[in-house]
Amino acid sequence: MIPDKAPKEDVFHGSDDLKKEAHISSFEKYKELYMKSVESPGEFWGDIAKDFFWKTKHTGQFLDYNFDVTRGEIFVKCMDGASTNISYNLLDRNVHERKLGDKVAFYWEGNEPGDELTVTYRELLQRVCQFANVLKSQGVKKGDRVSIYMPMVVELVVAMLACARIGAVHSIVFAGFSAESLCERIMDSQCSLLITADGFYRGDKLINLKLLADEALQKCRDKGFPMQKCIMLKHLSKEAEDTSLDSQSPPAKRPCPGLQVPWNPDVDLCWLSLTRGASDECEPEWCDSEDPLFILYTSGSTGKPKGVLHTVSGYMLYTATTFKLVFDYQPDDVYWCTADIGWITGHSYITYGPLANGATSVLFEGLPTYPDVSRMWEIVDKYLVTKFYTAPTAIRLLMKYGREPVQKFKRESLKVLGTVGEPINPEAWQWYYNVVGERRCPVVDTFWQTETGGHVLTPLPAATPMKPGSATFPFFGVVPAILNESGEELEGPSEGYLVFKRPWPGVMRTVFGNHQRFETIYFKKFPGYYVTGDGCRRDKDGYYWITGRIDDMLNVSGHLLSTAEVESALVEHEAVAEAAVVGRPHPVKGESLYCFVTLNDGLTFNRTLEAELKKQVREKIGAIATPDFIQNAPGLPKTRSGKIMRRVLRKIACGERDLGDISTLADSSVVEQLFQNRCGAAV
Ligand code: WTA
Repeated sequence: MIPDKAPKEDVFHGSDDLKKEAHISSFEKYKELYMKSVESPGEFWGDIAKDFFWKTKHTGQFLDYNFDVTRGEIFVKCMDGASTNISYNLLDRNVHERKLGDKVAFYWEGNEPGDELTVTYRELLQRVCQFANVLKSQGVKKGDRVSIYMPMVVELVVAMLACARIGAVHSIVFAGFSAESLCERIMDSQCSLLITADGFYRGDKLINLKLLADEALQKCRDKGFPMQKCIMLKHLSKEAEDTSLDSQSPPAKRPCPGLQVPWNPDVDLCWLSLTRGASDECEPEWCDSEDPLFILYTSGSTGKPKGVLHTVSGYMLYTATTFKLVFDYQPDDVYWCTADIGWITGHSYITYGPLANGATSVLFEGLPTYPDVSRMWEIVDKYLVTKFYTAPTAIRLLMKYGREPVQKFKRESLKVLGTVGEPINPEAWQWYYNVVGERRCPVVDTFWQTETGGHVLTPLPAATPMKPGSATFPFFGVVPAILNESGEELEGPSEGYLVFKRPWPGVMRTVFGNHQRFETIYFKKFPGYYVTGDGCRRDKDGYYWITGRIDDMLNVSGHLLSTAEVESALVEHEAVAEAAVVGRPHPVKGESLYCFVTLNDGLTFNRTLEAELKKQVREKIGAIATPDFIQNAPGLPKTRSGKIMRRVLRKIACGERDLGDISTLADSSVVEQLFQNRCGAAV
């Protein structure tokens, strides 16, 4: 339970200035509203829903659900029976009802300093309508799935909202994923169209995105899934005459030697030519509350990514509310979330949450270290950013360069700092708070998942005293519990499985095309609870501390990867008989991949093979999954029943000799051999 009074010791506070105008200005107010949200969720969310546009009203219960597999099918319904359109609420409502047409929706800042563009709410509405008409003209209908594989450009937001406007379901694939991963996701969601771009720069590195998209489409064809259409945005290869049109982001200032744009006239269509003649008016498709809004793939512990499905109304209410309260959004804010829209953080907190509030955001294409390590702070000063949201891995990376690159810029506009994606170590938290925020700005450490749609454990900046490294308390409507291995709820200070006892509007509804898998992964282990897969500790003051994944999942630079996915990429190599992958602590990435491979008989391990295996994983999954270490493992530590003892492998990867109880090991001699072959220094 949440304590009546906030603790006074060992906690940090934001500035008093923030409290004056804050939506939730004290811990007492948080607690009072929290109790209301849990005791009368219908009333709590119903009040919030009044701010939005509903074509027809909902009937029946506000939030209806079953979280208990023993009682039948798992389901969650929010505002069932109501109809609305999310793009209408994000755009038309802001332009027409709230008179925000001239307000800036996005300051787009390109990879290259000087590449910039401003888009107002009115312009965004027009562009979304135009592109929605383009999609319709290509035969895309309500319920169809559309794959989007694009860099961080305004057109990515346009494409996703155009899908939402016509009731099509977007499935965005992060542009850092490989052709193989894109193909797998296109096929799983049975997409009818792909939207991509010619290429983009990540820092100095040119990514030939269209080339990868074509490779993915070829793989789809080879597997019997012919994709008929691909719309390509010219982001780098714009012709000179196009630059006068504001229907595309400005051309990159640098030349693009090496850019390859393969073109297949049977399949490929050009974004610009299609939008040129399209009308900028488009009546939205009125969708039911529980119609699907999007699919976003996240790693699954079996190795096959899961298509997490979110629906219209609950997701809209939840992202809008968490955005407003967790960042204490005020109308004159300039908000910046550095995530990529290809991940859930970008979906919820670059596109949907901020636009639902009529906020002005920075949309950044580049990297924190390009052209130098001051880039983030330069951008903060350039746009006078007030609320800033990034990942612990970015903070740890910048910490390495010391204070000077930060202090070159003023950062006086900053009011709230946020983090997401992985546990933040107290040292990085302190640096963020002291150096970046100059002890003025609260740090909201937001815990959530692709599956939860929005923040579920998080401080509120003017209400919650912070403890570095703790995501503190539940958001409104969220009821966490900590369970032991036998599924008993633990009270008071304790440690165990983090679960949730009931849904909130933004929780996922199913795994696309596989409801059974949804039930098995999240609801089977402890009937009656949604299981997060994370370990958690509650301290004497009731604060929650995420201790990390307790399944076979790794978190590399804030990106979840399943060990099984990497292992299956490794064993696909003809030299590899068996592979086991574990996480090894990494000072910047949080965790890095340490792979043990057993080779087929008669083969020897060498540098060439090591390089080939790294390349193989990169090509199968994407650069984020590149292993840091690959070790030859003539044998793997297994139990007598043949189960690999990952716990032992994790210790070997770290060079830790204290292995604990290894009496269940079938052959203990393999352990010594593995210690002798290990790579990297001990950690
Ligand atoms: C981890 C990202 C500790 C956690 C929004 C979770 C965190 C997984 C935090 C989801 C945090 C995310 N503190 N751990 N503040 N935020 N995680 O689906 O393990 O990419 O289960 O969603 O990231 O990752 P996903």
